[in-house]
Amino acid sequence: MSTAGAPAKKVFIKTYGCQMNVYDSQRMGDALERDGYVRTGAPDEADLIVLNTCHIREKAAEKVYSELGRLKKLKQLRQSEGKPTQIAVTGCVAQAEGEEMIARAPVVDVVAGPQSYHRLPELLHRAEAGGSAVASEFEIEEKFRRLPPASSRQTRARGVTAFLTVQEGCDKFCTFCVVPYTRGAEVSRSVAQITDEAKRLADAGVREITLLGQNVNAWHGAGHDGRQWRLGELLAELSEISGIERLRYTTSHPIDMDEALIEAHGSLPKLMPYLHLPVQAGSNRVLKAMNRHHTREHYFELVERIRAARPDIALSGDFITGFPGETQEDFEATLDLVQRVNYAQAFSFKYSPRPGTPGADMKAQVPDEVSAERLQRLQALLNAQQLAFNRSCIGREIDILVEKPGRRTGQMIGRSPWLQSVIVEENSAQIGDIMRVRVSSAGPNSLSAEALVAA
Ligand code: 5AD
Ligand code: SF4
Repeated sequence: MSTAGAPAKKVFIKTYGCQMNVYDSQRMGDALERDGYVRTGAPDEADLIVLNTCHIREKAAEKVYSELGRLKKLKQLRQSEGKPTQIAVTGCVAQAEGEEMIARAPVVDVVAGPQSYHRLPELLHRAEAGGSAVASEFEIEEKFRRLPPASSRQTRARGVTAFLTVQEGCDKFCTFCVVPYTRGAEVSRSVAQITDEAKRLADAGVREITLLGQNVNAWHGAGHDGRQWRLGELLAELSEISGIERLRYTTSHPIDMDEALIEAHGSLPKLMPYLHLPVQAGSNRVLKAMNRHHTREHYFELVERIRAARPDIALSGDFITGFPGETQEDFEATLDLVQRVNYAQAFSFKYSPRPGTPGADMKAQVPDEVSAERLQRLQALLNAQQLAFNRSCIGREIDILVEKPGRRTGQMIGRSPWLQSVIVEENSAQIGDIMRVRVSSAGPNSLSAEALVAA
């Protein structure tokens, strides 16, 4: 349900196949509702169309592609009326096709298999900012084998940024979260596997790699020397790959932020000054009930150390309002934490009980209206911080990684070190260039900039 004053975005979910898919569509619907969508039965009024596909029938993939052909016309029509429309393909056909789907049907914004449904809102946000998003679960190596040779950077559907899964699963068991049950225990890939894949990505024209894992900073893998490496060392190793200009990682848990990783933020120029470090809540009582293994004081101290290592780092977080037992005072502690930390970006959700998690069985469930009202207040604060952060960039000279052409001719869209989308009027820039620009204006979700002539 939308909590904001603006009209809610509408989602149309078309479900193919079995009961499992019907259940999955429901899960996706829930995740999207948490992100402010309302369901609609009419595809032509939907801002987001999800095709939850099934592979059982013959020619299932062909049928999905012909449906995408029809949706392309609908999307074009809506967009000509100024209504941005996203298309996501999920389910078994998405699982089987992976990235090839976006190469063959560029109308698709997001491809996600069953393991990534909880990340659908995040993938949609990413696609909005970066053209398209493919869920991490697809083995990037596998996709590359199936893709035509990347003869030039521009021909690749994915472009110059890529996600590389280094870790899957989670052992933390936050009491609201289904991930430890659905994704299972933490598993890390080895340094050799990861560096091989990163080199292949670099050869294919990728300039920026985001290391992915449910609990990415818990990653530990066998290094070349047989020792167990941690993420800081892995990032240093990946920094050595020529062609890779930028590194990021997500999502981190505060208790796994070790000293070496913090130091890496100070010592590795390729490691971008951006950190997604979810805290979820600001009250120690609620953090305990959430089984977060850290207190607000621990989080403040951590933020201080990270900022000492990299003063210009942009912090982002995840927040939940209305966790069972959250009092008004607890919620005020979340607002206070946000005030003190000052985030550049954030994702916030109203608590929603997930069957099978301890939170769902807790007695003191918070009424929906209360969680919604708190979410609204929290989002107002987070949005104000994001806008202030964006505005603080005005007048500064920054480097952007050019990712794609803009909407108007002559415009290019790039990404700042702090993950902001930057629109620049520039004809000569190539996708994949790192380009020096001066920020001229800032909105809530993007910056505008002027190209600087090379000296
Ligand atoms: N209710 C609300 N938000 C949730 N998240 C995870 N599970 C729930 C839930 N049951 C949020 C957390 C997490 C993000 C990916 O989704 O903030 O960090
Ligand atoms: Fe693990 Fe993150 Fe879920 Fe907590 S919220 S259980 S750290 S995936």
